[in-house]
Amino acid sequence: MQDFKFHNPTDIRFGRNHIDAELHDAVAQFGNNVLFVYGGQSIKKSGLYDRVKGLLADLNIVELGGVEPNPKLASVQEGQRLAKEHDIDVILAVGGGSVVDASKVIGSAKFYEGDPWDLVIKANGADRNVLPQVPIVDILTLSATGTEMNFGSVITNPETHEKYGTQGPNSPAVSFLDPELTETVPARQTAAGSIDIFSHLTEQYFDRDDANDASKGMIEGLMRAVIKWAPVAIADPTNYDARANLMWTATMALNGLVGAANEGGWTVHALEHELSAYYDITHGIGLGILTPRWMDWVLEDKSTVALFARFARNVWALSGDDDAQLARDAVQKTYDWIASLGAEMTLPEVGIKDDTYFEAMAANAVDHGKLIKRGYVPVTPADAQRIYRDSL
Ligand code: NZQ
Ligand code: ZN
Repeated sequence: MQDFKFHNPTDIRFGRNHIDAELHDAVAQFGNNVLFVYGGQSIKKSGLYDRVKGLLADLNIVELGGVEPNPKLASVQEGQRLAKEHDIDVILAVGGGSVVDASKVIGSAKFYEGDPWDLVIKANGADRNVLPQVPIVDILTLSATGTEMNFGSVITNPETHEKYGTQGPNSPAVSFLDPELTETVPARQTAAGSIDIFSHLTEQYFDRDDANDASKGMIEGLMRAVIKWAPVAIADPTNYDARANLMWTATMALNGLVGAANEGGWTVHALEHELSAYYDITHGIGLGILTPRWMDWVLEDKSTVALFARFARNVWALSGDDDAQLARDAVQKTYDWIASLGAEMTLPEVGIKDDTYFEAMAANAVDHGKLIKRGYVPVTPADAQRIYRDSL
């Protein structure tokens, strides 16, 4: 096992009965000037917008709506302007991962004089980890990213076709996780979120440290939970146990716990972020297309068979003595599960009809994701292009 530090102070309020009783004080403990950040129409349709405004009626609320999926730099720039102009004390993010991610970077940008894109790509000496950050309180409405209990954000600059992750100094101060708020998430978005959860788990399961049984065991349990409950949530959107299991699995999958002591890993996310950067597709859908193709490619390296056979036995409940066959069957099971959620399974189905940008995307993914140095199996630009082509 590798050395690690693990520190995660996010205050989690999980379940149905926290928001009305606790939201006001959770926000007001940081001050009166609140930047209320949200996405499109979903929180207005569900009534959550009015509920929040009612609960915080005595505070100074400044609003930043319209944060889009794959949150764009323009929203962060506008948030920076508002945070400075109104001397914001606390950001209340209400929505999915895109809203929370944008809010975290706005929280840093209040204390930065230049363009917030510098903070994302660490240009012009900008470093979020030496800046203060406005505290974030969030009400999560979609189970997927784990942003509600981690230090990461992913921001897109559509002008340059760049989508990059950035780590801040703090995870959210308080996260309200009420599974009932996810009951209005449409089926395709529920599928995408569940695939994202599953991908966070595979990215950390398939790492180079083969002695880390503590993490692998936790991941196997979380994988079985998302495999079991995603189809239930899609068939029966108001099933509380399904929504609750997906929500807590999402949080636990990417709060730093199950990746502690790992060595390397994380390939498919770097490949997917290029798809979203060039084509603005839904993150989880892109992961669902790429993951089985990446697995097929990885399995050509025979040193991976033993771990895939363990994945087959402990996650997919397959049995047998032939590890190579079990490994292949596990990849097929993965493909079939993703397809069963109704997700698109090829790039043309999401509008990526040819290989026009594959060379540039592959080069960037390998470079930015450090896939030669850090990948579970090292990925060269030629390998990355092959995985994209196999997904056509
Ligand atoms: O904008 P609104 O109207 O709110 O609609 C959203 C949006 O259209 C809708 N939605 C959210 N909650 C809903 C709902 N619709 C009905 N009922 C509800 N309760 O869902 C759509 C997608 O929302 P979004 O926030 O984009 O989804 P998600 O939570 O999957 O976030 C995706 C973003 O997070 C990044 C992704 O790359 C992507 O940009 N990631 C962030 C990570 C992190 N911070 O750690 C890690 C992940 O790997 C990921 O990269
Ligand atoms: Zn993800």
